[in-house]
Amino acid sequence: MRNLQVVLASRPEGPVTQKNFRLVESSVPSPAEGEVLVRNLYLSLDPYMRMRMDDAKSYAAPVQIGEVMVGGTVGEVLESNSPFLRKGEIVSGRLGWQLFATAKAEALRKVETGSAPLSTALSVLGMPGVTAWYGLLKIGEPQPGETVVVSAASGAVGSVVGQIAKLKGCRVAGIAGGTAKCNYVVRELGFDIAVDYKSENFETALRDATPDGIDIYFENVGGPILDAVLPRLNAFARIPFCGYISEYDQPGAYGVQHLRCLLVSRVRLQAFIISEHLDIWDAALADLSAWLLAGKIKHHATVANGLENAPDAFIGMLQGRNLGKQLVKLS
Ligand SMILES: NC(=O)c1ccc[n+]([C@@H]2O[C@H](COP(=O)([O-])OP(=O)(O)OC[C@H]3O[C@@H](n4cnc5c(N)ncnc54)[C@H](OP(=O)(O)O)[C@@H]3O)[C@@H](O)[C@H]2O)c1
Repeated sequence: MRNLQVVLASRPEGPVTQKNFRLVESSVPSPAEGEVLVRNLYLSLDPYMRMRMDDAKSYAAPVQIGEVMVGGTVGEVLESNSPFLRKGEIVSGRLGWQLFATAKAEALRKVETGSAPLSTALSVLGMPGVTAWYGLLKIGEPQPGETVVVSAASGAVGSVVGQIAKLKGCRVAGIAGGTAKCNYVVRELGFDIAVDYKSENFETALRDATPDGIDIYFENVGGPILDAVLPRLNAFARIPFCGYISEYDQPGAYGVQHLRCLLVSRVRLQAFIISEHLDIWDAALADLSAWLLAGKIKHHATVANGLENAPDAFIGMLQGRNLGKQLVKLS
């Protein structure tokens, strides 16, 4: 057995290109005392990885040139030197863009197999699902009848935000790029309405879609979309500030015009990083699993095949080629 890894070859200047990555072969590592050897089965591709490619101030250290790209994974324990995990068990962790990795057993989470596909541990029953749950319920505090707007609505986080908001009795408008994604969130996921931010009449369509204003804006993208939302916010609206993908390639590229609306509407805006809220994961996963099992929330994944295709799939996800969660099947 040989290991394959994708390492950071160079830092992007603007949009990510294939040249920023290198595929390398190495030996399969041996687990030390207390560690396990894992064969990764699925790799999660997430927007935050773009920020880790820059050597810039952030909440987490950047990936260094030549280092394996960071990433969430689901895999099978091949060897165990820990009493806490057995050979054959399925675990999720942050083992990066590679086929094999060793890790301390405590750094991994056991994945219940059987009730849902194990790849859901990287989507609706993993980090994106928990992000949606925490941001919407703990920061947004939705009340029945309120209007919730979510951007990147067809994606891993946004698709779950909108469905939870519906379960809480809210009116939900999704913002997404293109007719297919807009149709998906309304027809498949049950949002009340969707607005295509790439259409010429986006601002008018957003106004028409939110006749009673906006009580919660779940922010995933920033830029001109945030600017269109700000004047629609009701008094005491809440903004769970989850992401700002429109500026991950070019920080500060767009100057938001309507920040004054935050003051005028006495808006509560709270940014959060879900990995800093580990205390709520069990509660969030209990809710999400129950809703999924009961058929109350749906999920979709776009799956690339093979580690060598991870860079292309990652670039595609940043450009919006994915529908739902972007994954890579590794074996
Ligand atoms: N705070 C946290 O702890 C946390 C955790 C997870 C995720 N996040 C953030 O949540 C957001 C969504 O993440 P995700 O994993 O669910 O990704 P995702 O929505 O599955 O995929 C990214 C989507 O972003 C949209 N997008 C890309 N460029 C855009 C632009 N310039 N303007 C508007 N939309 C754009 C694309 O959809 P369209 O085709 O619709 O444009 C693309 O499909 C990201 O900002 C991410 O960083 C934060």
